[in-house]
Amino acid sequence: MGAAKNYDLVVVGAGPGGYVGCVRAAQLGMKVACVERHPRLGGVCLNVGCIPSKALLDASEFYHLANRRLADYGVIAGDVRLDLARMMARKDQVVAELTDNVRKLLESHQVEIVHGKARLVDARTVEVVEGGGDGAAKSLVLEAGAILLATGSEPVAIPTVPEDGVAIVGSTEALNFDRVPEHLVVVGGGYIGLELGSVWRRLGARVTVVEMLPQIAGPLDGQVRRALQRLLTRQGLEFLLDTRVESAVAVDGRIRVQIRRQDQAGQLDCDRVLVAVGRRPLTRGLGLEDLGVKLDPKTGQVRVDARYRTSVPSIYAVGDLVAGPMLAHKASAEAVTAVEGIAGLAGSVNYDAIPAVIYTAPEVATVGLSEDQVKERGIAHCIGTYPFSGTGRARCMGETDGFVKVIAQARTDRLLGVHIIGPRASDMIGECVLAMEFGASSEDLARTAHGHPTFAEALQEAALNVRKCSIYAS
Ligand code: FAD
Ligand code: NAI
Repeated sequence: MGAAKNYDLVVVGAGPGGYVGCVRAAQLGMKVACVERHPRLGGVCLNVGCIPSKALLDASEFYHLANRRLADYGVIAGDVRLDLARMMARKDQVVAELTDNVRKLLESHQVEIVHGKARLVDARTVEVVEGGGDGAAKSLVLEAGAILLATGSEPVAIPTVPEDGVAIVGSTEALNFDRVPEHLVVVGGGYIGLELGSVWRRLGARVTVVEMLPQIAGPLDGQVRRALQRLLTRQGLEFLLDTRVESAVAVDGRIRVQIRRQDQAGQLDCDRVLVAVGRRPLTRGLGLEDLGVKLDPKTGQVRVDARYRTSVPSIYAVGDLVAGPMLAHKASAEAVTAVEGIAGLAGSVNYDAIPAVIYTAPEVATVGLSEDQVKERGIAHCIGTYPFSGTGRARCMGETDGFVKVIAQARTDRLLGVHIIGPRASDMIGECVLAMEFGASSEDLARTAHGHPTFAEALQEAALNVRKCSIYAS
């Protein structure tokens, strides 16, 4: 172990929490080191999460369009075939370019990148063990004015459904299948189950989603959730709700999945199982317990205050490690606020205005409270909805499924939530997040001129409809 190196800030983890925190700290004049155990930067998001999944969602949607829908537009594509190896290579290329860009970004801000596994020795010291390829591990000591933990999360496993990385897999392997499964059973009807289930369905697999709750995509607005299930069912995804997977075993090259719905037992026969039942914070091996960094005993999340300080004042934590939705943009927003706090600046993250998107077709995008939540809280409210089928652009594009739902407070008209299921919802939600950040009313949205013809006109009409003033609604 050599002499310790000194920094203003040592960041552990180079995902969207860690690397964004590094850049912001460097902008504020801090001397920064970023420790990452993997050779590639970017965390789960860039390597095995947001980016590769969206690359496959986009590619599989093109295949589906070419195969099933182009003829409706008068485009005859001929013999459409799938080159899965090429689709995967393109996805890997996108990931490689983006992770390289993170490296360049950190280098251009003079952030020192240290590859190895970090462990906290005391409140201001990080030990990094660099695994030598020859088996000779080296260790390095970094001393810091402050430490920012951004080590992210790992998938939850089901012990009776043991993953072998080939036939019974998690999301990372399901982004890399070398052939289209014949029958993919997805355990969990959440974000990953619906997105990766959609990818493999579009590419030709039979896909059965087994969800233990009575509904898929639990946290969504009920009306949106029901519409999503109906549209995905139309695409051929099969849903077994209120159903638990009890076990899965390989028998003669196939997998037998035992399921149970209340007191009824059943069995599914398939060739691939994807386990996607949630993720949990990754704190193992960091030495937090020895330092007295408090964790939530139920969730395993690191406890932090409003400036992301843990129970040990020089140690901060952000992203999937702490409470709140496990989303990349949430991790980045927290990292910026945490680092600005360390630099003595004011700031906070507005959790009422964090968007969430499910990249199915159609997409689902949402911000703020759902109808169920405003009812539970007893808030007097008004709702305006408008279907995409009522807009000219959606008709031109043949993308008429879905609707926009705007929820506003009855007395003040202040926006409480916006829920979109439909084409380009992921981009359209940005306007709604901004409106909520600015404390806008539904009338503010309604009186904002929107380009014609655009999908966003459905948003304007839904906002008008909060006061029953929609121009086009019948
Ligand atoms: P991570 O991105 O997990 O980064 C943590 C980093 O810390 C990792 O690189 C890890 O190697 C490193 N690390 C861990 N322990 C140590 C240690 N001891 N020493 C050194 N380094 C360490 N979110 C979205 O917002 N949009 C999406 O479309 C989306 N799609 C997703 C798709 C999938 C399949 C998955 C799995 C997730 C997806 N997410 C998405 C969630 C998103 O990836 C996470 O919320 C986000 O990556 C969290 O960022 P983070 O910085 O907290 O942690
Ligand atoms: P999830 O929490 O979204 O969904 C898990 C689902 O599995 C839930 O509906 C749950 O009820 C169900 N479940 C749990 N145990 C079960 C069991 N034994 N049998 C059947 N069903 C069971 O978790 P998921 O899909 O694993 O994703 C993890 C996280 O990654 C998400 O919560 C999200 O934060 C993030 N993510 C975000 C994406 C995006 O922003 N577009 C895309 C993919 C992941």
